Amino acid sequence: MGSGLTQRAVAAGIVLALVVGATFVMLLYSMAGMRRSQLQAGHSTQVLVVTNRLERRIMDMETGLRGFAITGQERFLQPWQEALAAYPREIGELEQLVADNPAQRARVHRIVTAGASYIDGYARPLVQAARRDRAAVTAMAIAEGERRVDVIRADFSALVTAEQSLLESQQKRSDAAARRAGVVGAAGLIASIALIAAYTGYLTRAVVAPVRRVAATAGRLAGGDLAARVPGRGVGEIGLLQSSFNTMAATLAHNREELAASRSRIVTAADQARRRIERNLHDGIQQRLVSLALEVRTAQTAVPQDRPDLGEQLNRLADGLGEAVDDLREISRGIHPAILSRAGLGPALKALARRSPVPVELDLNVPTRLPEPVEVAAYYVVSEALANTAKHARATLATVQAEARDGVLHLEVRDDGAGGATAGGGSGLVGVTDRVEALGGTMTITSPPAQGTTLVVDLPVGGQ
Ligand SMILES: Nc1ncnc2c1ncn2[C@@H]1O[C@H](COP(=O)(O)OP(=O)(O)OP(=O)(O)O)[C@@H](O)[C@H]1O
Ligand SMILES: [Mg+2]
Repeated sequence: MGSGLTQRAVAAGIVLALVVGATFVMLLYSMAGMRRSQLQAGHSTQVLVVTNRLERRIMDMETGLRGFAITGQERFLQPWQEALAAYPREIGELEQLVADNPAQRARVHRIVTAGASYIDGYARPLVQAARRDRAAVTAMAIAEGERRVDVIRADFSALVTAEQSLLESQQKRSDAAARRAGVVGAAGLIASIALIAAYTGYLTRAVVAPVRRVAATAGRLAGGDLAARVPGRGVGEIGLLQSSFNTMAATLAHNREELAASRSRIVTAADQARRRIERNLHDGIQQRLVSLALEVRTAQTAVPQDRPDLGEQLNRLADGLGEAVDDLREISRGIHPAILSRAGLGPALKALARRSPVPVELDLNVPTRLPEPVEVAAYYVVSEALANTAKHARATLATVQAEARDGVLHLEVRDDGAGGATAGGGSGLVGVTDRVEALGGTMTITSPPAQGTTLVVDLPVGGQ
């Protein structure tokens, strides 16, 4: 059966889910990358801020120290003391911030060492010395401070440069992640739309169109066209539906053919039986009665002159026998029209027209002989139609047309009577309809009130 629709639908669903899922995973991954880069950028900014502040502290210390050394005024020591108080906490903060970066940690470590050496090895002793004797603080000592501060500032500068390049590369990574997220989102969207469009197209082609074809064929079948079949072979369950439908149509057509054949056999068998009975009546009892009547007539001539009563009795007997023969003939004709077997459809229809109480116009164009079942059916159609005209129509004229052409015997019987005929009102029209259909023919009755009645019959002639 190939892969079914269900499997294909499930496969399409899985592919779609994979595409959408992969798009979302990549989007989330890119967003996480962006978030990480932003956090790192924030961290670097913090490192730069703290570094900047520390550098200022060192500068404040150096400026305060130099002011105090030159002037001897204690107020110059105020920024030095403030910077000295804040320095350990802030340098600790910086150490913590760079703890996870070994290169920066080494730079900070150098600053810590240089800072400690500046504060404890130079600044504090200088303050104490200046307090003791300001004149002892030489210009050389002051220049030494400047040199040490320059070394520390160079370390700060290296730290800042390294952190700035870190910040820059983080910014680049963040930008790349944002670009990637955009591309992945757009590609996922396009792929999803394309997949949905392809799936919809496939569904239309594989399901909707074939179901429409099956529905159209079902309509033709319902209208009586049993040769209608669904073309093509669909996928999976649809293919199964099409082949089951075609099998059903073939079975219906076959059954109808069988039914028609069996109806035809029944009608033919009944006609043959009636014909046999008619022959038996004609050749048997009818002939016997005719010869008896002849014998009575002969006996009549031998009756003595003095027995007129006997002659009269024989006369009545001969008349009675003659009437019995007539009655029998009438009955035989009802059972099977002997003229039909003897002379064919044309003469038989002429005989019907002659016997009709309503005047009949004939227009016959039929071969001398047609297959017997066709002749019998045509005869009974015309016989029933003329009998109905006489019984129900109150018509002044009836016409009978018969023409055999292209393998079809076409019959039309019309009258100018009251109309209103329907098959089903009695048994006559139903009977001839059955007979016509048993031979694969069709019969239509057109009989509007007050506009006469027309019976049209088409009987297939070939293949009989
Ligand atoms: N030519 C006609 N004109 C008017 N009415 C008709 C004509 N033929 C038939 N009918 C009407 O149609 C009915 C059905 O006709 P149908 O031949 O089937 O039955 P029937 O003639 O009444 O009885 P049966 O034929 O069994 O003796 C009739 O009863 C009659 O009312
Ligand atoms: Mg009738």
